[in-house]
Amino acid sequence: MKVAIIGVGTTKFGEHWDKSLRELAIEAGTNAIIDAKVRGSEIDSIYLGNMSAGRFIGQEHVAALVSGELGLSIPAVRVEGACASGGIALRQGILSILSGQDDIVLAGGAEKMTDLMTDGATTALMGAASQEWEAYYGLTFPSLYAMIARRHMFEFGTTREQIAKVAVKNHHNGSLNPIAQFNKEITVEEVLNSTMVADPLTLLDCSPITDGAAALILCKAELAKKYTDNPVYIIGSGQASDTLALHDRRSLTTLDATVKAAQVAYKQAGINVDDIDLAEVHDCFTIAEIVATEDLGFCKKGEGGKLLDEGATELTGRIPVNTSGGLKAVGHPVGATGVKQAIEIVLQLRGEADKRQVKDAKIGLTHNVGGSGATAVVHIFSR
Ligand code: COA
Repeated sequence: MKVAIIGVGTTKFGEHWDKSLRELAIEAGTNAIIDAKVRGSEIDSIYLGNMSAGRFIGQEHVAALVSGELGLSIPAVRVEGACASGGIALRQGILSILSGQDDIVLAGGAEKMTDLMTDGATTALMGAASQEWEAYYGLTFPSLYAMIARRHMFEFGTTREQIAKVAVKNHHNGSLNPIAQFNKEITVEEVLNSTMVADPLTLLDCSPITDGAAALILCKAELAKKYTDNPVYIIGSGQASDTLALHDRRSLTTLDATVKAAQVAYKQAGINVDDIDLAEVHDCFTIAEIVATEDLGFCKKGEGGKLLDEGATELTGRIPVNTSGGLKAVGHPVGATGVKQAIEIVLQLRGEADKRQVKDAKIGLTHNVGGSGATAVVHIFSR
């Protein structure tokens, strides 16, 4: 399977009190259209990842809002899969091209989260967890991932310092990324000493609450060279699901949906994990990156902490992870994140990642998770 990406566009991620969701989505979409050098009239359909505009800003029907603003009367579909909404929007765009229905698709994601105070955003986000078994009892996403962290420390001896190193690495990468919400470097001590959110996770172990939008122009592979000399191809796409509630899972330290989605994507791409040059993984909390690197096969189960000690996931390491700065430093506008991950891989494979550039990057992977692991989407990209 092969679908091309011929254009990318984002907004800066952060607190955009002066811009609406509509304006953010249009900015990202327009940037992608300009980058792809397509005319609006050539786009056949739009897939827009958005988790909860109804709760965050009181606006539903957001895909039509975007198509209308772009002056396009084409099919426009909102895609929701919690924090994996963007990754699923990308997958739906791929499928609509592979079905033969569409030649050119705009796959984007947008979320406007900071109009609510933190308690309101936390309640909206908990819509992605089990209402009956988790939200009702007062659990939040930081506390769900704190349980995963505690269990990982118990089962594998993962240390608090190793977990903190994810934030240090990703803030370093974010300091090199102009669209990141946080451009400042931090130390392990600062992570350990920042405000406790859900023991053992502190403020600096958490992704923030963010506004932002991102967009990709997808194109039938055979047509790509008509628009660009430098297309990036999607060669594998896997998606899998699991129970919403954490306690119903086989294990707290493996996301089975990630494992399954990755198996499908690797098989479809005809590669194995050793062929991956770099990855953007879903680090909504620091521990999530450790679990993801294990579930994707970058190391054995339980050895994600060791990868950090060895520097293997740094920009110059064996398998650079979250070169963009990840959700931790770039920010996590939930519906847009999966699309932004793909954009980082496209920039890397085009050789346009500037100070974050990974040498000779040829094959990249994205991993986008909804909730505490009820949805996972994995994509594989090649030059
Ligand atoms: N990382 C680094 N700095 C952060 C931060 C984060 N995650 N969140 C906030 N900050 C900074 C702010 O920039 C601000 O700095 P300033 O005082 O220099 O301006 C300061 O910390 C306080 O910010 P505030 O917005 O008041 O923080 P808060 O206490 O209301 O929210 C969290 C902090 C961690 C609770 C919130 O970011 C959160 O809920 N994150 C998780 C989001 C989530 O669950 N997403 C879904 C994942 S599945």
